[in-house]
Amino acid sequence: MENYAILKFFAAYIEAQLGIVYVEANYYQLESRLKDIATQLGYSDIHALHLAALPGITGQMKSLLLDIATNNETSFFRDQAIFKALSEFIIPDLMKSGNKSVIQLWSAASSSGQEVYSIAMEVDQARRLNASIPRLQILASDVSDTILKRAESGIYSQLEVQRGLSARLMVQYFDKNEQDQWVVKRSLKDGISFQKLNLLHAWNSIGPFDIVFCRNVLIYQSVESKIKIIKEIWNHLSPGGYLILGAAESLFGLSQDFEQVVHGSAVFQRKKSS
Ligand SMILES: C[S@@+](CC[C@H](N)C(=O)[O-])C[C@H]1O[C@@H](n2cnc3c(N)ncnc32)[C@H](O)[C@@H]1O
Repeated sequence: MENYAILKFFAAYIEAQLGIVYVEANYYQLESRLKDIATQLGYSDIHALHLAALPGITGQMKSLLLDIATNNETSFFRDQAIFKALSEFIIPDLMKSGNKSVIQLWSAASSSGQEVYSIAMEVDQARRLNASIPRLQILASDVSDTILKRAESGIYSQLEVQRGLSARLMVQYFDKNEQDQWVVKRSLKDGISFQKLNLLHAWNSIGPFDIVFCRNVLIYQSVESKIKIIKEIWNHLSPGGYLILGAAESLFGLSQDFEQVVHGSAVFQRKKSS
């Protein structure tokens, strides 16, 4: 079989599994990543990998294929304005609307965890100033096993912590290990759980949530998948709950079930009642 047909086969598999569209202009990148997978799994080339995949893709091959397709770029306090909006506007607004003792938050594509620990740090800082702020219960999920394990470990290199984290927060919430890495303190992990979850599949066992962070993941999806995922998020949000997208993402043309809210330079969405 020609290389092109093999690349098309794996691109179709990735789209069906993740909703991520591999355009032909990026096939050269896919080919080099498939060559790496073939080597890792002990196949001579991508033709042998393809033959092994034909009866069905499972186990390590599946996990490696999903890993190469995902972009895990993230950093602490990425698009900082949204974290200020969380503590200054969103949480106080949720507190107004009921007697909440716990706020349920979902980080729906948490990558290596910087987003979820930034949320936990922001809210912990706010609670030190205002003890009436409810505790957060956070679900951190991602489709990639590898990246989810990294998130759960809470271990970061010097370069990673330098991206977005102030020296004050670093010292307050991290310890240094013997390998000179920064390790999230146990206390910051309280209330955070980690779960593998594909946004394209049913999420029967989770929610409802007061706040959903779904940042910088829809960007890679087809319009149909975006619409489907946003509708599901709406279904999983409590009345008046909030959806936070990435700074470059919007609901334009995708949903009318949310109203846009602006706080400072942050823009986010509040669930309209049905
Ligand atoms: C660019 S990162 C965004 C991380 C973080 N939300 C941020 O904005 O910094 C995108 C993440 O989405 C995950 N992802 C991609 N497709 C997914 C899917 N279908 N279901 C769940 N997670 C997915 C990837 O594994 C990756 O970790």
